[in-house]
Amino acid sequence: PIDVKVAQLVSKMTLEEKVGQMAQVTVDVITKGKDRFSSFEPVELDPKIMDDVFNKYKIGSILNTANNRARTTEQWYKIISEIQRVGKGRLNIPVIYGIDAIHGTTYTAGATFFPQQIGQAASRNLELIKKGAQITAYETRASGIPWNFSPVLDLGPDPRFPRIWETYGEDPYLTSEIGKVMVKGYEGDNNDISSPFHVASCLKHFLGYQVAASGKDRTPAFISDQALREYHLPSFKAAIEAGAHTIMINSGLINGVPVHSSFKILTQLLRNELGFKGLVVTDWGDIENLNNRDHVAASNKEAVMMAINAGIDMSMIAYQYEPFCNDLVALVKEGKVKTSRINEAVTRILTLKFQLGLFETPVTNYKDYPKFGSKEFEDAAYQTAVESITLLKNNNNILPLKKTTKVLITGPNANSMRTLNGGWTYSWQGEKVEDFASKYNTMVKAVQNKIETKNVSFIPGVSYKMDGKYFEEYADQMDEAIEAAKNVDAIILCLGENTYTETPGNLSDLYLSDLQTEYAKKLSATGKPIILVLNEGRPRIISKFEPLMQGVIMTYLPGNFGGDALASILFGDENPSGKLPFNYPKFPNSLVNYNHKPSESRSVVEGVYNYDADYNPQYEFGFGLSYTKFEYSNLKLSAKNINTNDMLTISVEVKNTGNREGKEVVDLYLSDLVASITPDVKRLKGFQKIDLKPGESKTVTFKLDKKAFAFINADNKSVVESGDFKVSIANLQSPFTITN
Ligand code: IFM
Repeated sequence: PIDVKVAQLVSKMTLEEKVGQMAQVTVDVITKGKDRFSSFEPVELDPKIMDDVFNKYKIGSILNTANNRARTTEQWYKIISEIQRVGKGRLNIPVIYGIDAIHGTTYTAGATFFPQQIGQAASRNLELIKKGAQITAYETRASGIPWNFSPVLDLGPDPRFPRIWETYGEDPYLTSEIGKVMVKGYEGDNNDISSPFHVASCLKHFLGYQVAASGKDRTPAFISDQALREYHLPSFKAAIEAGAHTIMINSGLINGVPVHSSFKILTQLLRNELGFKGLVVTDWGDIENLNNRDHVAASNKEAVMMAINAGIDMSMIAYQYEPFCNDLVALVKEGKVKTSRINEAVTRILTLKFQLGLFETPVTNYKDYPKFGSKEFEDAAYQTAVESITLLKNNNNILPLKKTTKVLITGPNANSMRTLNGGWTYSWQGEKVEDFASKYNTMVKAVQNKIETKNVSFIPGVSYKMDGKYFEEYADQMDEAIEAAKNVDAIILCLGENTYTETPGNLSDLYLSDLQTEYAKKLSATGKPIILVLNEGRPRIISKFEPLMQGVIMTYLPGNFGGDALASILFGDENPSGKLPFNYPKFPNSLVNYNHKPSESRSVVEGVYNYDADYNPQYEFGFGLSYTKFEYSNLKLSAKNINTNDMLTISVEVKNTGNREGKEVVDLYLSDLVASITPDVKRLKGFQKIDLKPGESKTVTFKLDKKAFAFINADNKSVVESGDFKVSIANLQSPFTITN
C-alpha cells in the first residue's frame, strides 16, 4: 500500500531532502534565458543550474506558468524526460510538474482550447463541461504533465476584479455543481489519478479570493466568518467531497490576515473541519509576500515559519529556492518548525507522487496519445462554445441573419484569436495566441466561411496596440468603416477587451472604453441595424449605447472555436442556449448580485434615491434568449408543509412553443421569506439543461432537502429555520412552509 511505501521512503530521507520536496520552482530557473515575461525561445535546459536545483537543493517540483517555450509534444517530451532524469536524485523520487491548463493544456501547440470558465458556466451543461475537463486531462498528460492548477472555485461577484473570467460567475451553487464535475473530469469518476489519462486537480484559490474591497487583485478583502461559510466555502467543500487531491491558497488578506499565514483557515478549517487530506500549495511567491508585501513577518525566514506552521505543504517560490530551503532547514534545527510538520507535508507530497503513478512512469509519452488535438476533441470545444454564447437582445428577431445578408464585421475583437482565447493560452497573458492559432477562425474568418465572401466586409474601426506596458485602443480606419456601413444590410460590431490575466489587469473604468462607445454611436447613426458582439472576460458596462443596438450577443472568451460558434449562431445554424453566470451591471454604482438582500432592490422613492443606484441590472443572472420559445406550466410541489428533514419534490412542465429545436436551462430558485439573518431575495438551488423539439414538452423534476433550505446563522452554524419559503421557476412561483 502507498502509505507503507511513503513511510519507508520518508524514514530514509535527510532533512534537506524533505525540505527540497516542499519547494517548487519555475522551469525558467533551470533554463537558459531568464526573462519569463518576454522570452518565447524554446526551452534549453541549463545543466549547471539543474545540478544546483536538483542535486544540491533536492527540489521536488517544477511549474511553468509563463510562456510556451516548447513547441510540440515531442520537443516537450525530451525536456521533461531530462528534468525527470536529473531530478530523481539519490532516492529515485520523481519530480512533480504542475501547470495552469485552465481551459485546455497550455504547453504544446495543437492542444484543444475550450471557452474559459466563465463561458463554460454560461453553458450550464455539466456533461459538456466534464468532457472538456477529461479532454484537458488527456492532453495535459500527453504533454507529460500530471498536475493541473484548475479549477478556479472562487466566486466572481465583482466585475471590477480582473480574474472574473477564470471563475464560474457569482453564484455559489452553480460554482459548486461545476466544481464537482471538473474534479471528476480531471481525476476520473473514482479519482484514480494513476490512470495515464487523468491529472490531479488543484482547487484554487482557497479561500475568499476575488472579493477584494478595492476590486484589485491581491488587495485586502473583509469577509465575515458567516459570509465566508455561506458564499465562499460551499464550492471548495463540494469539490473536496468529490475527492480533489490538491488545493492552492488565496494570495490576499482576509480581515487583515494573509491567508498564507492563517492557521485558522489552512489547518482548523481545511484540515480539521473539512477533513481535506491532500496537498496544499502556495500561490506564486506568497511566502515571501508575508514579509515583503504584507508585513506580518519581519524576514523571509519568519515568513517561512509562519506559512509552514499554518499548514502549507509546498511553496511555489519561484526564484527563491535557496533561501527557502536554507531557512526551513534552520527553522527545524532551531525547533521553530516541528519535524512532525515537515514529515506530514512530505508524506502528502510523496503520496500524491505515488498516487499519480510517477514512480513507475515519471513521464507519459506523447506517442501514447493519438487523440491529442483530434477532431473529436475539437468538436467538443466547438459545442461548448456554442452552448456558452448567450443571446442577450434580439429586437424584432433581427437574429438569426439570413445567409444572403450583406454584412460589415468590425471592431477591435473581430479579427483576433487572442481575444477569443484570453490568458493562460500558449502563454501566461495569451500574447502568443496569434502565432499558434492560424489554423483556427477569428470571427471575421468564420463569418466569411459561413456566407458568401463577397457579402462580408471587414474594417477594424478600432484596434488595440501595446503602448509601453498597457494596451491602448486607437481609431483604425473608423471613417472608412462608417462609410462601408452605409452599403450593408447589417453591422456585426465586435467590441470588448483585450486579453489580460493577473496584474496589470485592473481597470479604472468599468464602462466599455470611450472610443468603442463613440464608435458604436457613430455606426448607429448610419441607421443600419447593429448586432453587438461582446468578447470580454467580465461585463463591461454598455448602457450608454445599448439602446442603439438591435441585437446583443455575449461570447465571453470562447476559445479556438468561438469564431465558428458565433458565426453559426449569427446565421441560424445553431440555436443559442447560454445563460448569464453573473448580473450584467448597468451602472458602476449598481454592482449588485442577483442573490442580494431585499434592501438592495427596494422600490425607488422619488427625490430621495438615485434611480441609477437602484437594482436594475442591464441583464440579470440566468438570462439568455433562444431562437425558439419555451413556456412553463404546472409547477407542482410534493407538499406545501414539510418538516426540516423531509425531501421536497418539485416538478414543472416546459414546452417548446416555437418552431425550431432548442435547449433550455430550467433554473429553480428558493427564497426563505423570514430568517434570523436577513435572507437573500432568492438563491439558485437547481438547474437542468433540456433539449426540446418544436411542440415537445418535458416534465423536469427537482428534489430539495435540508441542504437547500439551510443557511449559515449568526453563530456560523448551518441551520434550517421553520417558516415560509417560496420556489420560483421562470415566471411560476409556489409557497411552502417548513415546520420543525
Ligand atoms: O495557478 C496560478 C494562480 O492562479 C495565479 N498565480 C500563479 C499560479 C501558478 O501559475
